[in-house]
Amino acid sequence: MREDDIRQIMDIENESFSTPWTEAAFLAEIHKPYSLSRVLMIGDRLVGYLCMNLILDEGHILNLAVYPDFRRRGLATRLINEALTELKKKGCRFIYLEVRGSNTVAKQFYLQFGFRDAGLRKKYYTSPVEDAVLMMRQL
Ligand SMILES: CC(C)(COP(=O)(O)OP(=O)(O)OC[C@H]1O[C@@H](n2cnc3c(N)ncnc32)[C@H](O)[C@@H]1OP(=O)(O)O)[C@@H](O)C(=O)NCCC(=O)NCCS
Repeated sequence: MREDDIRQIMDIENESFSTPWTEAAFLAEIHKPYSLSRVLMIGDRLVGYLCMNLILDEGHILNLAVYPDFRRRGLATRLINEALTELKKKGCRFIYLEVRGSNTVAKQFYLQFGFRDAGLRKKYYTSPVEDAVLMMRQL
């Protein structure tokens, strides 16, 4: 992920979340030394992205989205598989993520990749206020 990807990322982000990240949030993310942020391109078109952090042996998936017209074609599968391979190579042993309790599609997606419920973070989200399901997978 590079700075000049952010304009296309924002189109997907705004379509995908009720509380989208801002451009500034993506910019800050790219420049963190422990960030591993990746985009998926089809030709010149950015169709998906994944932001994760790796600190010591603990990975954290912070954001993942695919452009609505391109969903259900295995693109997020491609992003997550590459992320898991990269994290493992870099010594990651545990991966965490939060997902809205009502986001059944994302929960189903992560279950398929071996993530399991590891707890709740009460009132983690705003607009609307909602608990996060914490999911975890060992590598
Ligand atoms: C979650 C998301 C990234 C999945 O992207 P995708 O490219 O459509 O996912 P894939 O095509 O790789 O799907 C892989 C598996 O996830 C599950 N899945 C994906 N979309 C699903 C849906 N609409 N309903 C049920 N299961 C679904 C299925 O198990 C699917 O496997 P299958 O197609 O063989 O049945 C996408 O729906 C998205 O961008 N959602 C909005 C943003 C979001 O909620 N991100 C997660 C925040 S934590």
